[in-house]
This record gives sequence, structure tokens and C-alpha cells, in this order.
Amino acid sequence: MSLHVRRICLLLGVISGVGTSSALAADADHGADLAKRWCASCHVVANGQTQASADVPSFASVARRPDFSPERLAFFLLDPHPKMPNFPLSRSEAADIAAYISSLR
Ligand code: HEC
Repeated sequence: MSLHVRRICLLLGVISGVGTSSALAADADHGADLAKRWCASCHVVANGQTQASADVPSFASVARRPDFSPERLAFFLLDPHPKMPNFPLSRSEAADIAAYISSLR
């Protein structure tokens, strides 16, 4: 299997992991724990958090964007992106974080 095909399979796995009815349903509580550990130094992860970087969007504001979807967020987390460190997240962890953020809508 080529690298490219494998990557597509990985991404499809993310989508199915995010679906709420699937057996692999994402775990928003676990996502909250991960977000507090990995993301809270820069983002406001939960209501009531007092410290974060000024120019970084809070997760609640990310969740309320009109174009928000958990699938896109999970993709975003698994792809390298400028301005944010790369996290050693598995695809199920990325799906859990995406589920947590969508629960903030
Ligand atoms: C070192 C600081 C830092 C950490 C840690 C960090 N982020 Fe970010 N994040 C940023 C910055 C800065 C931006 C704004 C990027 C921009 O404006 O281009 C951002 C933007 C985002 C966005 C919005 C992207 C968009 O479409 O505008 C999301 C979603 C996001 N981060 C999720 C996360 C998650 C989930 C974690 C934890 C796994 C995390 N971030 C950890 C700094 C960080």
C-alpha cells in the first residue's frame, strides 16, 4: 500500500471515530483531559480558566464558528500546522478532543 493510500485510510478512520453512533464513539470526557494537558497553556480550554495566551482563540469560540465540524478539527490536529506545536496525538485522541470541543457549542 502506498504511503498516500495509507494516509487516506488514516483520515477515514478519524471520521468514523468521530461519528457518535459508531462503536468507536469519541469520548468527550477523555478529550477534556487531553485538552487540559496539551492545549491549556495557550488556549482557554474550559469555562473558568483564567490563564491562556491573549491571541489564541478559546475552544468555545472555535466550537461556535459557523464552519466548525468535529471531523475538520480532528484533521487539523493530525496535520502539521504553523504556530502550534505538533502533538503526539493518536487519531482516537484527536477525535476525543474534537468531541470535547464540539460539546462546548
Ligand atoms: C504553544 C501554544 C499553543 C498550544 C499548546 C495549542 N495551540 Fe491551538 N492555536 C495556537 C495559536 C497561536 C492559534 C492561532 C493560529 C492562527 O491564528 O493561525 C491556535 C489555533 C487553534 C485552533 C483554531 C484553528 C483555526 O482554524 O483558526 C484550534 C482548533 C486549536 N488551536 C486547537 C488546539 C488544540 C486542540 C490544542 C491541544 C491539543 C492546541 N490548539 C494547543 C497556539 C497553541
